Amino acid sequence: MSDTKLYPVPAEFAQNSLLNDSAYQAMYKHSINDPEAFWREQGQIVDWIKPYSQVKNTSFQPGSIDIKWFQDGKLNVSANCLDRHLKDNANKTAIIWEGDNPADSEKLTYQDVYEKVCQFSNALKAQGIKKGDVVCLYMPMIPEAAIAMLACTRIGAVHTIVFAGFSAGALAERINNCGAKLVITADEGVRAGRIIRLKDCVDKALAKPQVTSVNNVIVFARTKADIAWHEGRDLWWHDVVKDQPSECEPEAMNAEDPLFILYTSGSTGKPKGVLHTTGGYLVYATMTFKYVFDHQDSDVFWCTADVGWITGHSYLVYGPLANAATTVLFEGVPNYPDTARMSQVIDKHQVTTLYTAPTAIRALMAKGDDAIAGTKRTSLRLMGSVGEPINPEAWRWYYNTIGNSSTPIVDTWWQTETGGILITPLPGATALKPGSATRPFFGISPALVDNEGNLLEGENEGNLVILDSWPGQMRGIYGDESRFEEAYFSTFPNMYCTGDGAKRDADGYYWITGRVDDVLNVSGHRMGTAEIESALVSHSKIAEAAVVGVPHDIKGQGIYAYVTLNAGEKADDALEAEVKQWVRNEIGAIATPDTLHWTQALPKTRSGKIMRRILRKIATNDTDSLGDTSTLADPSVVDTLIAEKQNA
Ligand code: WT7
Repeated sequence: MSDTKLYPVPAEFAQNSLLNDSAYQAMYKHSINDPEAFWREQGQIVDWIKPYSQVKNTSFQPGSIDIKWFQDGKLNVSANCLDRHLKDNANKTAIIWEGDNPADSEKLTYQDVYEKVCQFSNALKAQGIKKGDVVCLYMPMIPEAAIAMLACTRIGAVHTIVFAGFSAGALAERINNCGAKLVITADEGVRAGRIIRLKDCVDKALAKPQVTSVNNVIVFARTKADIAWHEGRDLWWHDVVKDQPSECEPEAMNAEDPLFILYTSGSTGKPKGVLHTTGGYLVYATMTFKYVFDHQDSDVFWCTADVGWITGHSYLVYGPLANAATTVLFEGVPNYPDTARMSQVIDKHQVTTLYTAPTAIRALMAKGDDAIAGTKRTSLRLMGSVGEPINPEAWRWYYNTIGNSSTPIVDTWWQTETGGILITPLPGATALKPGSATRPFFGISPALVDNEGNLLEGENEGNLVILDSWPGQMRGIYGDESRFEEAYFSTFPNMYCTGDGAKRDADGYYWITGRVDDVLNVSGHRMGTAEIESALVSHSKIAEAAVVGVPHDIKGQGIYAYVTLNAGEKADDALEAEVKQWVRNEIGAIATPDTLHWTQALPKTRSGKIMRRILRKIATNDTDSLGDTSTLADPSVVDTLIAEKQNA
């Protein structure tokens, strides 16, 4: 790492940036030395209906984990994202929608979004949705996704967005876990020229006998396709908003009232409903957006993430809109209809700030200059990366090719659980090193510990933990209080355990090395090995399965599944296709295994625990140093697996 070329802050950028390095240093020091005073001041970045007197009430202590911020304040998220901008920015573009088809785009001003949100809020109320009710969104990337989110926040309903690539089964499981009363969807979605039958999927999910909480489904007519209709349950979006007034008083929410639930994968069990609350989340999303992306009034900000992920929540919708920014909402994918689509969209809408994922960058990099053919990208002044470690080669390509060797890159590390960015360069303050997320944001105290939880000093490598709370931190796992402490605070007492490994270099820069638990990161999508295994073994012919992640050029990690079949079953190409399709149907396309390794037995300890460490090494042909295999019940299993791998 020591020979890495530094990319200093470009002089031109520094001239107009919000913060330089000494400002960062001073502000950071203040945020750590006196968090109470720091956040008392910074909490003013949003408007409060009732001001807070309390700021930080948090404890990471075993047995009494408690996280509360701005506890006695009241505010409304949609009022912060819309109403407060109407005075100066009513006619400013809030959302630029770019359709899957390059011929389709649309601009909505703050006034437009405000009116649509109010109308839809009134429509939700008319359907009996009240403060505290859970509303599930299963939406394509259209402005109505953001409008529905904001409308929920306006009336105090809690939204839970399920990524529209998840299967009916995954959707049903999530609806059931949170007891959603209403589902908002579209007839169909459109992505890369293909149609996604969203309403069909909702119908299938709601047909499952265990799903009983949903009273209504609101359907936005995106393609006006023919769909099945459940009279009495299903309602068209255009019908429910038709006669609704375009004013709706925002609900005064307590700072700690739930704002949204977002499901994410852990290393064990079913997906966890990560709960974020109102005040702290909004303060943190607003503030990180402002400083990490050095927000200027004239910016056009494009985050390519789907609203179904936390990045879409914090940096496509809430962070940008709370800052009165112009945010681009893109329905399609970066390489359709051709490889240069991302660059074309940048030129078309004069995007100044691009925030995307390493997997997209690597996919474009594989096409070389085709990714920028016929485009200039001179409007760009800043680029960001998120979702997984970015390899220095992809970083440099992103910098040189998409960014014309002239725009800084912020490599932002964070998680669904953290609500907003925790480790990141600030573009006017931080000299960059390709592949490093660099330094902590204000109020964040990262540390490295060994496997026993001992703090590691200086240049080192270990488990990444955070020593104190920040306003955007998740407050709990919905419906499973005890799992919160167990999942995040029990491995290393008194610290938030991130599940990531990291190195810290001599300059104090952090380099995230990836998950240290059984969580995979495939194309920036997070998945538990346990979830994929449970989908596999639910197939009638499969006896056992063990899933490991393997390096993948484009996806970052690929899914490698070891599978044993029930007696009498035979592995062949047909079964392979069938099993892959099975997993797609159970979870979604993103969980499809890249490789199925058919075998007779898995390496287990005498107590029956599968030794994944060994399976990981076999899958990557790293079998010279398998480590201790003496605890295996049957060590010969390992030789068989190695031979099968070599002959595959
Ligand atoms: C995991 C969280 C946070 C938005 C998207 C993912 C990995 C995320 C980076 C980065 C290295 C990263 C971590 C983390 N990750 N950003 N810049 N460098 N790794 O959210 O689905 O909750 O996944 O993504 O492993 O734990 P998520």
